[in-house]
Amino acid sequence: MCGIVGYVGSRAAMPILMAGLGQLEYRGYDSAGVALQRKGAIDVIKACGRLSALQAALPKRSSATTGIGHTRWATHGEPNERNAHPHTDAAGKLALVHNGIVENAAELRRHLEGKGVTFRSETDSEVLAALISGEFERDGDLLAATQRALVRVVGTYGIALMHEDLPGEIVAARNGSPVIVGVGDHEMFLASDAAALAPYTRQVVYLEDGEVVRLKARSYEVQDFHAIVAERAPATIDIEATLASSGEHAHFTLKEMHEQPQTLARLMSGRLDERFSTAHFGGLNLSAKELMGFKRIKLLGCGSALISADIGARTIERLARIPADAESAAEFRYRNPIIDPDTLYFAVSQSGETYDTLAAVQEVQRKGGTVLGVVNVVGSSIARQCGAGIYLHAGPEVAVVSTKTFASTLAAFTLFALYLGRMRDLSPAEGARVIAALQALPEHVQRLVDRADEFEAVAKRYAGYDRAYFVGRGEGFGLAREGALKLKEISYIHAEAYPASELKHGPLALIDPQTPTFAIVPKDDLVAKNASTIAEIRTRKGPVVAICHEGALDETVEDRIEVPALHPAVDPILLLIPLQFIAYHAALARGCDVDKPRNLAKSVTVE
Ligand code: G6P
Repeated sequence: MCGIVGYVGSRAAMPILMAGLGQLEYRGYDSAGVALQRKGAIDVIKACGRLSALQAALPKRSSATTGIGHTRWATHGEPNERNAHPHTDAAGKLALVHNGIVENAAELRRHLEGKGVTFRSETDSEVLAALISGEFERDGDLLAATQRALVRVVGTYGIALMHEDLPGEIVAARNGSPVIVGVGDHEMFLASDAAALAPYTRQVVYLEDGEVVRLKARSYEVQDFHAIVAERAPATIDIEATLASSGEHAHFTLKEMHEQPQTLARLMSGRLDERFSTAHFGGLNLSAKELMGFKRIKLLGCGSALISADIGARTIERLARIPADAESAAEFRYRNPIIDPDTLYFAVSQSGETYDTLAAVQEVQRKGGTVLGVVNVVGSSIARQCGAGIYLHAGPEVAVVSTKTFASTLAAFTLFALYLGRMRDLSPAEGARVIAALQALPEHVQRLVDRADEFEAVAKRYAGYDRAYFVGRGEGFGLAREGALKLKEISYIHAEAYPASELKHGPLALIDPQTPTFAIVPKDDLVAKNASTIAEIRTRKGPVVAICHEGALDETVEDRIEVPALHPAVDPILLLIPLQFIAYHAALARGCDVDKPRNLAKSVTVE
């Protein structure tokens, strides 16, 4: 999805750009580059691979005080140095970085080629550079040239560019991909994520879609694509600037898994009401009466967010007895969904930048629906677009796969289900039981985290297999999906999740001694059904790892991980922890790059 950074001021730009790219590497890491502007010349340096490769290619020192940088997740054109950003125009005078996809790139490319432009890369981004360069030749105004060019561009983008003829000036624009200006003291910063600005300034201006900004050391000027000026005062952000290190832990993934007792406690902090056995939220912006008017709840998200939404929907139904379900935000937005005013929608997104989820929010709002965000990153696009919702307060999540924010999302929905349930017909006594379980949760998660060695031993026993099944029923099936997704994402073992009830309708054909099954078995009404499924698998000589509640399962299995049961509305969070550690240690045993799995990026800001 790419990350972009920029700096204009009086300090050396290179280290600032590199530090910013370091913060944004989660957005893409197959190549990176910077353009540095000394008085009158632009130097472009790029490298394929991680940021460390770019660092090695950089000069020791650069006197440039203006620059832009980019870390890439390939969409158009394979990851190599030629396709890396920044891209320049034919004369090498204009340099541009781009995050997003230009949908009419082929048409624009043909048009420009017809006018004699030759291209060096396969990217849509180079087309943008050439298009803006052509416009710049008309009047030497980079902002105006960008505006004229962008009205011809179809697609999503965040871009930043500069021109040799205009030292000390950067122009940036946004349509769908985040661009945030950091306002400093006689210096300006630019980034795709406010976290990259946090070390320098807390004063930020979020560009809106269809806006372009001209940055100089002492000024920023925001306009729309038709040159209408937008007066934008900076907002103050409150953000941790501590992304740089995984500390005592070998990986961010491990660090973030270990943080879960604290992040869960933070999510609940100030939100539990023991007196009325309910929960409180500061940011829903809906009265009790309005909330009572909804007849259904629909949760939208992508990837792990979708899976957490699915489990969340079941918890809402369980406690609040209101129909709730989850759907892929990408599928939803493209099927011309019927938006029902009686339905309350939730957009679930750790980053708050997933483009498909943002577009789903816009679709709901355009059709008059009510949508709340469940988001981790404060001030992110989805949080701002929704204008109301629940922040996870889990702190920055750096590893590509989500762990702590997945757990926090589950807990957020348990709180919401409790809140809504207590408005409907959840009894005070049951509400009190949910609260007691939530209060005990961080400590129990800590005890599970402390059992990491046990989960590691299991992971090592199965790390050599090429494939695995994950099965469960109800919330257990949601956990099976998350366990399988984690395992495939970071260990590259082919893992498939299936409802345990459906196994005999097809996948059983694939069960053999080389195909282990991870079975999620809570102590609930369906425990006997799960025991039968396990028996069916073992009869076909398939090894079974049961992640089950203490004392739930009498069946013999190859490996058993027992987890305490607190309350069905919080138990998924406890059953989740071993699954996270199994994926992590299986990936390590296979020598994989756990924090940055191949082909993936943390924040998918393209369609
Ligand atoms: C990407 C990441 C996933 C993540 C998904 C949704 O696909 O690789 O780990 O679950 O985006 O991200 P979001 O920020 O919207 O939760």
